[in-house]
Amino acid sequence: MNILVTGGAGFIGSNFIRWMKQHAPEHKLINVDLLTYAGNLESLCDIEQDEGYVFIRADIRDRAKMNEIFQLYDITHVVNFAAESHVDRSIEDPEVFLNTNILGTQALLDTAKKYWKTAPEDKYSRDYRAGVKFLQVSTDEVYGALGKEGKFTETTPLSPNSPYSAAKASADLVCRAYYETFGMPLNITRCSNNYGPYQFPEKLIPLMIHNCMEGKPLPVYGDGMQIRDWLHVTDHCSAIYTVLLQGQLGEVYNIGGNNERANIDIVKLILRTLGRGEELITYVKDRPGHDRRYAIDNTKITTTLDWTPSYTFEQGIFETIAWYQENPIWLEHVLSGAYEDYYERMYTQSFGE
Ligand code: NAD
Ligand code: TYD
Repeated sequence: MNILVTGGAGFIGSNFIRWMKQHAPEHKLINVDLLTYAGNLESLCDIEQDEGYVFIRADIRDRAKMNEIFQLYDITHVVNFAAESHVDRSIEDPEVFLNTNILGTQALLDTAKKYWKTAPEDKYSRDYRAGVKFLQVSTDEVYGALGKEGKFTETTPLSPNSPYSAAKASADLVCRAYYETFGMPLNITRCSNNYGPYQFPEKLIPLMIHNCMEGKPLPVYGDGMQIRDWLHVTDHCSAIYTVLLQGQLGEVYNIGGNNERANIDIVKLILRTLGRGEELITYVKDRPGHDRRYAIDNTKITTTLDWTPSYTFEQGIFETIAWYQENPIWLEHVLSGAYEDYYERMYTQSFGE
């Protein structure tokens, strides 16, 4: 396979590239990333010289560039990670989320359609080159929020609540339409919250680890009783490769490891592991439109594709904390001036109230 990995300098994309190098090194990986604040090539410095790996700085919305890349590298598969991914930022500035997550995905789909269709000019033809596939990396957040009971299945209606999840849900619908109308060979995966190495410290787990290491207050939104279903990023990577190889065309696959935790319990676990006291916990104003609970029903991927997660949460969180402790330089570099500005904007007001 010649796999176009978009957003490969981000958290999950860089972990996916590393995982593929270890588990399926026979494939070529073409990493296309715009290097926004969230993209960091230092996450891949051990891989940059590898044969069969190439990095190109480009915007997935740049159709001319995407055309060029498909042609030059004879792309046979796309794994589309590229996105604006942080809910709090989507509340601050929704527009870039709609632009990148929806129109970026559409630009990639159009390019893939042009290169993969055997008769691209024939609008009635649904024939594609053998074996090609587009994999849209989506999220459980497209389903909206759950009450105390139940889990999201692949047939749960989409009901996104944040600009981020609305943009991801829209992209899912565009993908669905390209499958139905044009026969585009594709899958959509919807994963629960990921954690692990190389995650930007704006998301819950790395932010809490970092603040805890620094002895800074830990900003818990609302009552801290919101529930997320956590999966180690490595398990997400193995699931994506499984779907890439075996997913039935046109199908959606939920990905999750049955690991629901309340935010406050995770914060306390991090404090305990790092030997800090609970006085660092600071309850701040809740996120607007905050989804109360997510939980994934993973029956479809575990039974039809035989995928299973390998990490327990305790093992994963312990390793993740150790990784942040052992990689102060990576952390220092991502915590640049831009991060400080964001942190000020986000939290000064909250702490002040
Ligand atoms: P991330 O923010 O760490 O990385 C996103 C990457 O996309 C960055 O490297 C950024 O530079 C790049 N990018 C942004 N706009 C781009 C553009 N226009 N063109 C090219 N590259 C661009 O995000 P992540 O946490 O690694 O998430 C990756 C994908 O997985 C996203 O699509 C997200 O919706 C999805 N997802 C994330 C989670 C999670 O818990 N993090 C869970 C489920 C699904
Ligand atoms: P986050 O990592 O932003 O992921 P998502 O909102 O996509 O699930 O947040 C995870 C949970 O942690 C969510 O319920 C919001 C909460 N949270 C805090 O309580 N404090 C924080 O500083 C952050 C970033 C998140």
